[in-house]
Amino acid sequence: MASQMLQKARAYEKERGAQIRPRERPGFHLTGETGWINDPNGFSFYKGAYHLFYQSNPYDTHWGAIHWGHAKSADLVRWEYVGAALAPDMPYDGAGCFSGSALELPDGRHLIMYTGVQDVRREDGSLRGLQTQCVAFGDGVDYEKFQGNPVLAAGDLPEGASPWDFRDPKLWREPDGTYRMVAANDRGDGRGQVLLFESPDTVHWKYLSVLAQSRGELGQMWECPDYFRLGGKRVLTLSVMGMEPRGLEFHPGHNTAVLIAGEGEAFSAEGARSLDYGLDFYAPQTMETPDGRRILVAWMQNWAASGFAPPEARYFGQLTLPRELECREGRLLQKPVRELERYRARPVVYANVPLGEETGLEGIRGVMLDLTVRLRWEEGCGSIRIALRKGGVHETTLTLSPGQGILRLDRSRSGCLLDVVHTRDIPVDTGKGTLELRLILDRFSLELFCDGGKQCASALLTTPEQEDGISFYAQGPAWADVEKYDLDVR
Ligand code: FRU
Repeated sequence: MASQMLQKARAYEKERGAQIRPRERPGFHLTGETGWINDPNGFSFYKGAYHLFYQSNPYDTHWGAIHWGHAKSADLVRWEYVGAALAPDMPYDGAGCFSGSALELPDGRHLIMYTGVQDVRREDGSLRGLQTQCVAFGDGVDYEKFQGNPVLAAGDLPEGASPWDFRDPKLWREPDGTYRMVAANDRGDGRGQVLLFESPDTVHWKYLSVLAQSRGELGQMWECPDYFRLGGKRVLTLSVMGMEPRGLEFHPGHNTAVLIAGEGEAFSAEGARSLDYGLDFYAPQTMETPDGRRILVAWMQNWAASGFAPPEARYFGQLTLPRELECREGRLLQKPVRELERYRARPVVYANVPLGEETGLEGIRGVMLDLTVRLRWEEGCGSIRIALRKGGVHETTLTLSPGQGILRLDRSRSGCLLDVVHTRDIPVDTGKGTLELRLILDRFSLELFCDGGKQCASALLTTPEQEDGISFYAQGPAWADVEKYDLDVR
């Protein structure tokens, strides 16, 4: 039975969501039905559909009163709302149903595992959220919280581990039918660690080991861990708080990171790389499709800039396009999910176009696009620039400096007037004299996949829809192959 709080949230989402015109939303990036969203949660395949839940505050465009919103899709591109799945309606999760994961059980039920947060008055009088792990069972629409919640609490933690930062369970089933789960934790000294747990049945859990730990070389608290095997390697992804900058790999503050290790090898935080070099990307989570692909989706936003929803906004926050992962030559590669190609329309193709002062190409423009640009240059080329969402006033640019091996993403003139970070330098391999950029543009975002997905960059854009021009520029000898498709997602 849905609690009153959950029924109220569902009714509110439906009523307010219906007031938002489709053109006010992205074409194919998932937003909340209404209100605020952050992390993707419970990304899973269940009863013939992909299910994607998300941290949601239906009542406001700011973080708070965290519920689980819920959408489903047949193809990972077009989503339909199902109605909130969890409300913070129990004593153990009254301060929020934080991030977690989901999977289909052998008996046909859909299992959700999430972090319940309960505000506790501490000895010094301060209030702090005590974090425990909880489960709920459902049918793809309604979820019943387990009577025995929480299933993991402070007493289950190893010596020194903090019960105040113990969250974001990501679970999976092993081939022998037992379950494993990784959760984020603070070692007790402000640094992050990932703990591994096991269970025979999803409700009785036991601590197994520390899967990875920061010795200060990779930020402070680690959030939203994900762990899977891919291409013969073990892969751990993390959302890292309080990072010190490291070259072009990591910027200050919240980052995401991927660590790759062989069987039997320990994860080393030193070899960590960024999952996305853009401006808006955090809290990624993955799932495995029935045909064996590992797919990642993330919150397309960042905490530092997330407090600035425009006063008139009725929803705030969106998720990235789901991405297919591949692990090759010690790197994690990401590509737009192949299902997107079904929505390609009106191709326009150019080969070997010489680039100069300002080169515009007939038919190469638009707002919802799948655009591939293969750049080629020769000795003496100082820079190549692509301007997107270009109109009289605005533009977002990608500038390649072949000599430096840097691709600069700059959205300072994209229409966002906030005094926040608008540029990032992306380290790219320019040694071959060519570089392939695949750009996925939606009404309010750009996702860049560089060099077959070795580097990705996501950025929100607030450019008016009529500003849809694209131009190319080069200083020195350079050429481009361009392949453009409109994306007709309705
Ligand atoms: C990451 C995060 C998670 C937490 C959730 C709360 O963005 O801080 O660690 O579960 O957001 O909404």
